[in-house]
This record gives sequence, structure tokens and C-alpha cells, in this order.
Amino acid sequence: MKDSTLHDLFERLDLFVLKRSDNGTYESIGSAPDWFEHLFPGVVGPNKPFVPGDWIPFLENFLFDADEFWEKNKKGRSFSGPWIETDTGGQEFSLEASAICLENAKILTIEHPRDAYNEQRKLLQSGRDCLLSNERLEEEVRRRTADIRNREEEVALRLLSAAECRDDETGAHIRRIGFYSVVLAKKLGWTIEEIDHIRIASTMHDIGKIGIPDSVLLKPGKLSDDEYEIMKQHPVIGGKMLADSKARMINMAHEIALCHHEKWDGSGYPQGLTGSEIPLSARIVAIADVYDALVHKRVYKPAIAEIASLNIMKESKGQHFDPDLFDLFLDSLDDFREIALYDGSEIFPVGSDDS
Ligand SMILES: [Fe+2]
Ligand SMILES: [Fe+2]
Repeated sequence: MKDSTLHDLFERLDLFVLKRSDNGTYESIGSAPDWFEHLFPGVVGPNKPFVPGDWIPFLENFLFDADEFWEKNKKGRSFSGPWIETDTGGQEFSLEASAICLENAKILTIEHPRDAYNEQRKLLQSGRDCLLSNERLEEEVRRRTADIRNREEEVALRLLSAAECRDDETGAHIRRIGFYSVVLAKKLGWTIEEIDHIRIASTMHDIGKIGIPDSVLLKPGKLSDDEYEIMKQHPVIGGKMLADSKARMINMAHEIALCHHEKWDGSGYPQGLTGSEIPLSARIVAIADVYDALVHKRVYKPAIAEIASLNIMKESKGQHFDPDLFDLFLDSLDDFREIALYDGSEIFPVGSDDS
């Protein structure tokens, strides 16, 4: 291809085309486009070799890459990527350079992509805006989810404090049940969300005691058969209080309140469910509740040493307790022991937050 043909072609394309000499200087093929003259007046002229990197610092590094590209006589083009030059009046010009091997000649082109670049910039900007607004949206969803969860927890704790006022079960017992349940839920590989649900839901297991008359609930001695039947209504009352919610945590609280006195062999109450008919959350709470009640003092009994408590519980494995879950409980005794020491102070590190 003749140089004059190339010259015409490059002028039409609005390209500034330079040819690299062996001594590392560059000469233009044809005249420089107006925009180049405007930006770099007097740099280019006939028989006036120059080094673009001296005038355009951005190109200094690219010309090293271009030299390698030319040395290897590669096909295609090597692009510098766009950069911005600013004229004396502060107007910005987007430019881009490419290296090409053309019949053994080392060709450098510099172009001013104008609209194409601005379009790309707009696209990039709108892409960035979109990503930012998605991020903001996700942040908002996270914030609102946390708000809802905090409200649920507050409602649960307020309900509990009403129930606690009427029972010998202390607030510390209720909170410990949450922590024990977390330990077993983690062992079962539950999701973070489900673990968080059971931490709160399990604390409501005895919420139905709010509906038991003082004469029964607060009776110091042994309950008569009739009184015991009344007492056995607390899972039903709690179940009704928490029924038909759309919130998963409250649904879990419902199944726990209703089923935490069910037994694996069907001898529990109120429904006499057996085995896996009993919701897993309620089977977890059954173990946690009995362990905690045994190893702590109550108004009607002293604390029982852990070894004796465990012997009592082991006898009920497969009768009262889900046998597989009971094995997980035995595997988790170190955590249970630590939780059992919790006496109701505000901050408690085990199982409460790092789920
Ligand atoms: Fe109960
Ligand atoms: Fe309890």
C-alpha cells in the first residue's frame, strides 16, 4: 500500500498516524488532525521527528508495551486505553493510542474518540449509579430487616417479663434456654437465621403460664391431680397466644410453646405426639429446659449435681428425649456447663451473638 493512500485513509478516519523509526523517534504520516494541533501546537511538522512520550506523559509507559508488541510483530492492535488531555481553556479531550504492525512498519495511531468515548463514559457512569443504588437498596433492606428483628425480640422480651412476674422461673433461666438452644441448633447445622430465631423463640416456651391461676402457678406444695391438669394447659395457652403468625420466628415460638412437654415415646402432653411428629425446635428446648431445671435450685427443690442430673436425663433418652439430639447434647456439655453459670447479667458471650 502506498504512503499516499494510507495518508488519505488516515485523514478520513481523523487519526493521527505516526511511524516509529529505528532510533526511537516518531514521524507523522500525513498532517496532524486539528484537535492534535490544538492540543500540542507546533509539535508536529515536516521532517520534524519527535518522541510522543515527551509531550504526552500518559504515553510513556504505553510506548514500552508498544515496542514489545512491534518487536514480536504481533497481529491486531495494542491499545493504550483512553486518557484525557486538557487544553489551555480547560476543555477536556479524550484520546486513545494504538500500536499496529503494518508490513514491518511500526505504526502508532492517536485518535480522539469524541462521542464514542462520551457514550462509554455515560454508560460507565450509569452502571456505577445503578450499582450504587442497588447497594443503597440492599443496605436499606438490611437495616429494615434488623429493625423488624429487634422489634420482634423486644415484643418477646416484654411478653416474657410479664410472664416472669408470675412464676418462679427466673429471667436468667429463660435466657439460658435461648443460649442452650443455640448450641444444639449450631450442632444441627441450622442456618444463621434459624439459629437466631430459636435463640428468641425458645425463651417463650412457658409464655402460656401467664394464663394459669396464681393458686396453681404459685402453690408452694405438690399440685393435686386437678391442679396438675390445669398446669398442663400452659402449652395450649402459649400455643394459642403465638398461633397463626406470618413471622417464622413467631411460628417457631408457637411450636415450641405448644410442644415442649411432648415426649419422644408419645407419653407427653398436650397432644401425645411421638418422635419426629414433635417439631425439632421443641425437642431441642425439652432437653435444654430439663437440664437447666435440674442443675439449678428452684423453690420446690435444691440444685442437683450435674452428674446426678445427667444420670436422670440418660434414663429418659428415647423416652422423653430424641435420642440423636440427646447424643448431640452430651457432645456439647462443655458449652452447656458454661451457659449454666450465667446468672442474668446483661452481657453473655456464649452462643448469643456469633451464630
Ligand atoms: Fe413448660
Ligand atoms: Fe422452662
